[in-house]
Amino acid sequence: MKDQQENKKFHYHIITFGCQMNKNDSERIESIFESMNMISTDKPEEADVILMNSCSIRESAEDRIYSFSHEFAKLKETKPNLIVAVTGCMPGRDKDGTLRKRLKGVDLFFPTKDVIMMPKWLSELNPELRPIDLELDYLSVKPHVKSKFQAFVTIQTGCNQFCTYCVVPYARGMEVNRPLKDILDEVKSLVNDGCLEITLLGQIVNHWLAKEDDKFSPNNPYTQNDFAKLLWELNQIEGLERIHWTAPHPIHMDDEVIDALTLPKQLNFIHLPVQSGSSKILKKMNRKHTRELYLEKIKKIREKKPDIAIGTDIIVGFCDETDEDFAETISLYQECDFDISYTAKYSTRSGTTADKAFADNITQDEKKKRWFELQHLMEDIVLRKNQLYLNKEVSVLVDTFKNGMCGGNSREMKRINFPGDKALIGKIVKVIITEAGHWILWGKVL
Ligand code: SAH
Ligand code: SF4
Ligand code: F3S
Repeated sequence: MKDQQENKKFHYHIITFGCQMNKNDSERIESIFESMNMISTDKPEEADVILMNSCSIRESAEDRIYSFSHEFAKLKETKPNLIVAVTGCMPGRDKDGTLRKRLKGVDLFFPTKDVIMMPKWLSELNPELRPIDLELDYLSVKPHVKSKFQAFVTIQTGCNQFCTYCVVPYARGMEVNRPLKDILDEVKSLVNDGCLEITLLGQIVNHWLAKEDDKFSPNNPYTQNDFAKLLWELNQIEGLERIHWTAPHPIHMDDEVIDALTLPKQLNFIHLPVQSGSSKILKKMNRKHTRELYLEKIKKIREKKPDIAIGTDIIVGFCDETDEDFAETISLYQECDFDISYTAKYSTRSGTTADKAFADNITQDEKKKRWFELQHLMEDIVLRKNQLYLNKEVSVLVDTFKNGMCGGNSREMKRINFPGDKALIGKIVKVIITEAGHWILWGKVL
């Protein structure tokens, strides 16, 4: 007890880069710091330990870690006991230490799964920081959730797909799926604490595979796809209102997963990354799906759920992408009538097949031009689609309140603002849409 009280004076500061999976991992890391009786601070100059949870997806993401490390190295001149740690995807992929060499003043550099060792390493650097015992599997560390009513649930880490442009399989290793029971227990415990909405996370979330001894309910209607079975089980949890998941892969969107989109708790939104509209480029990306397969999946999804909102990820300017290839991306975008796209300019990543085997031969100007063209198309389409919500009712899970306005997402993952009360935070309310912009819709409570 005395030791724990002494630890009270220590502060930690976490900076998270990258995707939702990193955000969820940072919540686990926070739990570890909290179990060591440390206190969170949002001021790096106040911290005894600064931890950066890094992302490697694009060069710009890694550049930010380098520049932060130089900033913190300066801070160390006035705070010699400061410990700086880097985890996440950068250490995971840095097999030969090249990336670490570019950092300054970093004491600990370890891949995410090794975070269970962090308390021991911290105590070696500063014996006043008492270590704690953790289970061997970092995913069994309970995340320190900030919101009572929304939570991420990582059901899978790593990836076996090896898209030629992507660092994730190197950074995170091969696909590992969590057992059914662990997932259901985590979700039930969240729901017991008041959680209404969960987002299941995995790199190919719809390729989640059950363990041999995982037991599904005898009345589970699905027989082929484990992920569809999991969705059904989660739908049976009383008190849970909304289920969302990201990111599925088109090749695993089979009929059962598409059918599971009609389950009652499923949000009316799916994020289905396409990356390119050209089958030639998709092949070069090793995506394992064609333009035609993707379009067929979208058609089937819309047959089941005609009013579903759909999002995607697109990379522009991948190696050898001609004007004609890009025109195919534009036409696919129009045909799919997407609500949103996270569009990235291709950035070559050391260690990947594309970096080794193909020339990054589209100029930065051309990448920019293609990026803007897609961005404008996206804005035109989303505005037209959002106008269709006028005078319609949507269901909003309120997550913010500022200056008399409540904010939250509808089941279509549209951002909705409406005049309301702070007491509505964490509640699901029906709102009639009165005005629709590109990224915000406004309304009033019924
Ligand atoms: N597992 C998910 C994607 C994870 S990475 C999937 O397969 O869909 C998130 C997004 O980053 C990708 O969808 C892709 O659009 C983008 N991305 C990945 N590597 C990239 C690179 N080298 N350059 C630019 N964008 C990249
Ligand atoms: Fe990367 Fe492809 Fe795996 Fe997604 S599926 S994480 S893009 S390798
Ligand atoms: Fe996510 Fe970036 Fe890693 S997008 S999986 S944090 S490389």
